[in-house]
Amino acid sequence: MDDKIEQVRSAALDAIAAAESLEGLQQVRIQYLGKKGSIQELMSFMKSLSKEEKPAFGQKVNLCKQEVGEAIEARQKELQKVELAARLEKEKIDITLPADRFELGTEHPLIMIQQELEDLFLGMGYKVAEGPELEQDYYNFELANIPKDHPARDMQDTFYVDPNTLLRTHTTAMQMRELEKAKGQTPIKLICPGKVYRRDDDDATHSHQFMQCEGLVVGEKVTLADLKGTLEFMANRMFGEGRKIRFRPSYFPFTEPSVEVDVSCPFCNGKGCSVCKGSGWIEILGAGMVHPHVLEMNGFDSEKCSGFAFGVGLERVAMLKYGIDDIRNFYTNDLRFLKTFDRFD
Ligand code: DAH
Repeated sequence: MDDKIEQVRSAALDAIAAAESLEGLQQVRIQYLGKKGSIQELMSFMKSLSKEEKPAFGQKVNLCKQEVGEAIEARQKELQKVELAARLEKEKIDITLPADRFELGTEHPLIMIQQELEDLFLGMGYKVAEGPELEQDYYNFELANIPKDHPARDMQDTFYVDPNTLLRTHTTAMQMRELEKAKGQTPIKLICPGKVYRRDDDDATHSHQFMQCEGLVVGEKVTLADLKGTLEFMANRMFGEGRKIRFRPSYFPFTEPSVEVDVSCPFCNGKGCSVCKGSGWIEILGAGMVHPHVLEMNGFDSEKCSGFAFGVGLERVAMLKYGIDDIRNFYTNDLRFLKTFDRFD
């Protein structure tokens, strides 16, 4: 009997030592320690033994079982190490390999101007408002006091989607939305930057899509002097200290009086150069005092409050600030052009 046990023991130990993988070892475990395994089988010999022989035999089988079990444990640990080492080798990452180059974009110059204006006006306590690009005729024209027969309403000038819906032609549409929203309550102090659209043929100075930033202040005793001070501050921040501004009379249906605003030429300091065509001044925006009729239409008492508004073209500011001579550069997305702006942080 002892031979039998010894046979099973040594066969098991050989098989354990020969197992090359955890999976193979598991098979060995089943073969020897499983319910129907060889060691369990040894127990079936008990029946044929005498009472006296049984305990000693049982003890030996148990010892054999224990030894085989321990050998399996030990081999399992070895194999786990080997398999882990193999996996680490296989999945090794060479961290010294050069990484793929990831091209970083640059901020678009118009967005840079927009953010500069937002920072500037937020610093003076203004809000930044937004509105839809697909606009109703009502906000773009009607509330802005632009009568039905005004040329701006012509199909030639405006992208209409249907008779009442259009691509907004100016950020003044947002000004009207904000005035209406305020329900006659003052003060109002906000800017509304955004894209606008007109049926222009594209050339060096015209684009069917461009950007504007509208400014609006309404309150008690808001005057033309407040408008001038605000715009002078803006001109100095955008084009450098020492800028002067001047007002020229103009006409906009939504302001009275209306002005065209010039800034003293930042290139020649007002002496006259090719950029300002010798005049020393460059036109930068339109502005004025909000028309009393516009205030009334929007539910304000024009006897008690007044307001100023302005609308500045962002391309115009960017072109002057960065010396760009063709507006189409902003919209053709030529990376060589855009890349040159990564130096303005
Ligand atoms: N909406 C005008 C335009 O697109 C610009 C403008 C002029 C806006 C005077 C204003 C303003 O708010 O007061 O040409």
